[in-house]
Amino acid sequence: MIDKEADWTLKKVIDLNLLCEEDTAIICQSWNNLDRYLNHLKDCFSKNTLHAIAIKTNPHPEVLKHIVNFGFGLEAASIEEVLMAKSAGVTNDKIVFDSPVKTRREINFCQENLPGIRLNVNSFDELKRIPEHPNFILGVRINPVLDVGSPSLYNVSADESKFGIPISEKQDLLNAILEYPITQLHLHSGSSMVIMKSSVLAVEKLYKLAEEANQVLAENKISRRIESLDIGGGLPPEVLDSESNSIMNKYAEALKKQLPNLEKFQLITEFGQWVHFYSGYAFSQIEYVLKRGEKKLVYIHLGADYLLRDAYSKPRGIAFKTYSQNGIPKNGIQKKYDIAGPLCFAGDYLVKNENLSKPQEGDWLALLNTGSNSFGLWSRHCSRSIPKVVGVDFENEKIEIISERKNLF
Ligand SMILES: Cc1ncc(COP(=O)(O)O)c(C=O)c1O
Repeated sequence: MIDKEADWTLKKVIDLNLLCEEDTAIICQSWNNLDRYLNHLKDCFSKNTLHAIAIKTNPHPEVLKHIVNFGFGLEAASIEEVLMAKSAGVTNDKIVFDSPVKTRREINFCQENLPGIRLNVNSFDELKRIPEHPNFILGVRINPVLDVGSPSLYNVSADESKFGIPISEKQDLLNAILEYPITQLHLHSGSSMVIMKSSVLAVEKLYKLAEEANQVLAENKISRRIESLDIGGGLPPEVLDSESNSIMNKYAEALKKQLPNLEKFQLITEFGQWVHFYSGYAFSQIEYVLKRGEKKLVYIHLGADYLLRDAYSKPRGIAFKTYSQNGIPKNGIQKKYDIAGPLCFAGDYLVKNENLSKPQEGDWLALLNTGSNSFGLWSRHCSRSIPKVVGVDFENEKIEIISERKNLF
């Protein structure tokens, strides 16, 4: 589906002369696909769930505004992201502030300027920095200490993880809930979780802790209660073909089955890559096609600066497609090429042995499914400019530049 949209977009970009000579690459945001994922997420969970989409996954200001206009909240991993959330127009109660290194100054800033924001502390030490009467909703991040099948780079639930207080320290957690004005419990078990049973079990642990905490609060004649459970994000990207059978739906259904009373708490989610992965794509001009020994290399203008995770870790399944200089898809015989980025280090390859149809200098190469953790991870390495970004409403045949090419110097 994004294939057809990409074909239309490149032709339109060329026909409308949206590119200058120095625009050797362009990044595209599909509004229709983003809406499909936001709508499906909304449908999977109960109506009063607060979906705070992780800003880091795609922090483009227009994307954040779109999410806020849709009615969702935003999860901020830094005070800068909190300010971006504010600029996007979201109300404080829909911002979740999750940085593991909040300074006293940042906490005070929330206290003075952002009443109602949801602030999740990461440690007992951070709790000591919280004002006695917070103006914000105070949460604590719990580490469920479970294997949810995340790749090691994104696994935050190991017992030595830097994120959250291990659930094994339950008594200390209960004591802290008695002592501090905590009303929210949080977890984010890891990204690209593949073991559904463990992901659900993590939420169950959080739920049971909340139940026990509320009982202890009642026993101690304290009227405060844990009111909200923030279950984080972490589902891998998926193509939404038969929507009833989606991983997201299975996850939501499994949660409902395992925890039928989950809804007595205000539920919060923080999905990132599941929402964005299939909503972005990009095009680069092919600068050179060279032969090196047995290898054929295609050199393009987007590499580890844009797809940092793919170059430094492993390719995440970005798809490639060649187009002629005037934007017509090439369908000829395919041969294998390594796709090299523009940065000056040996690891800057987006993929090796990729089948491409007759790439030539001046052609365009589409990079499909680049919507998550790409634009937001733009690297300064080699100081190349961030390309122009266009927003595409394919269904209504509308396209507009949402940010100009940006120099880093
Ligand atoms: C606290 C927190 N919440 C949510 C997310 C989003 O995760 P994902 O993109 O895997 O859904 C992250 C990602 O790192 C995170 O650290």
